[in-house]
Amino acid sequence: MAKTVRLEPIAQQSSVETNGNLLSVLLNKDLEVLKECGGRGMCATCHIYVQSGAESLTPVNRREQRTLEVITSCKTNSRLACQARVIGEGVVVELPPGMYVNSLQDIEALIGRRAEQNLLHPITGAVLVEAGKLITRSMMKQLEDTETNSSFKVSEFFKQSSES
Ligand code: FES
Repeated sequence: MAKTVRLEPIAQQSSVETNGNLLSVLLNKDLEVLKECGGRGMCATCHIYVQSGAESLTPVNRREQRTLEVITSCKTNSRLACQARVIGEGVVVELPPGMYVNSLQDIEALIGRRAEQNLLHPITGAVLVEAGKLITRSMMKQLEDTETNSSFKVSEFFKQSSES
């Protein structure tokens, strides 16, 4: 039987088959989810907060737990939408603000514009550029130099993790 899930702050709801994951709910609503790791529970791009109904979701698994520990905006009600499956009613999901970028090239394309929303790192969820800031070439340089970005080669990160 289908279960209903509510999405905030966009005040929408969607139904999902019992045992379907929250990621399918987000995709149903045409929300842009980067799914950087392909739904394997290893990135930040499907990170959401559960406002209520946490008991109607399958429990956090080990891999999910490990990934959540790396996400800088993680709270006690954080889940990864690709790992959390809906088994009951009453789930309310809050979408974190911001846009995930999967390479410095993504940001480069935005040089000269103001970030409309926070630009986020796809693995750690760290804010790379704050909303309202002008994106400049020197900012790009800084990003390249920061520690966050020494691990910014997302594809290499996944290669390493799947080998380990
Ligand atoms: S899509 Fe990467 S953790 Fe869910």
